[in-house]
Amino acid sequence: MRVPVVVAARDVRMTYQIGSTRVEALRGISLDVSAGEFLLLMGPSGSGKTTLLSILGGILTPTSGAVVACGTELTRLRRGALARFRLLNIGFVFQGFNLFSALTAAENVQLALGLKGDKVDARDKACELLEEVGLGEKCERLPADLSAGEKQRVAIARALAGQPRLIMADEPTASLDSDNGKHVTMMMRRLAKSHGCSVLTVTHDPRIMEVADRVLHIEDGALRG
Ligand SMILES: Nc1ncnc2c1ncn2[C@@H]1O[C@H](COP(=O)(O)OP(=O)(O)O)[C@@H](O)[C@H]1O
Ligand SMILES: [Mg+2]
Repeated sequence: MRVPVVVAARDVRMTYQIGSTRVEALRGISLDVSAGEFLLLMGPSGSGKTTLLSILGGILTPTSGAVVACGTELTRLRRGALARFRLLNIGFVFQGFNLFSALTAAENVQLALGLKGDKVDARDKACELLEEVGLGEKCERLPADLSAGEKQRVAIARALAGQPRLIMADEPTASLDSDNGKHVTMMMRRLAKSHGCSVLTVTHDPRIMEVADRVLHIEDGALRG
């Protein structure tokens, strides 16, 4: 049986223009992400990883090329429709966690549930998700009272809250030591498989390669190999 494709990119190009300077960040990227796939994207700093993740996740619109995610051609959507699409289909995890510092772990997750209009039982659901990432006892803590690894686990619980089809994780382990980095990655993989969503993650950590279903290498805005 053929595995469905969750995101397809075709000849995606991205040029940033700042004043008279042009940067060709992506030079014709084509790829398919299959349902349930845990995909790793590796490449040197400045090679276009964040740009690619942002385009595939509907944060940025490419200069040319097409992106079809969850059956929708993102490159044809206007800004508002794109934002709605993201909310419904994509979870994001960033290097800097991006948690609200005045909200508890549970409230950070709850917010993501609330945004999707799923207010009923949002609190219970938030605590359930935090339990899944091993933070059941720390639901009421503020981010400042959590370790870096724990903060990233809150961010993962939040990303899963909307039951996304796809999770984009941009260097999610870069602020963690290697043990925590590996732990968080394994957890993302396990959760993605149990929630049935695909993950596209950027990392520099070669040890994390072992847990990926597939590794893509990007250099100078092009996929290698
Ligand atoms: N908003 C931007 N404006 C101008 N240039 C950018 C912008 N974002 C990224 N770039 C440039 O595009 C290239 C790819 O950047 P990026 O996608 O952030 O790479 P990576 O995540 O692999 O470090 C780099 O040369 C970077 O300087
Ligand atoms: Mg980057």
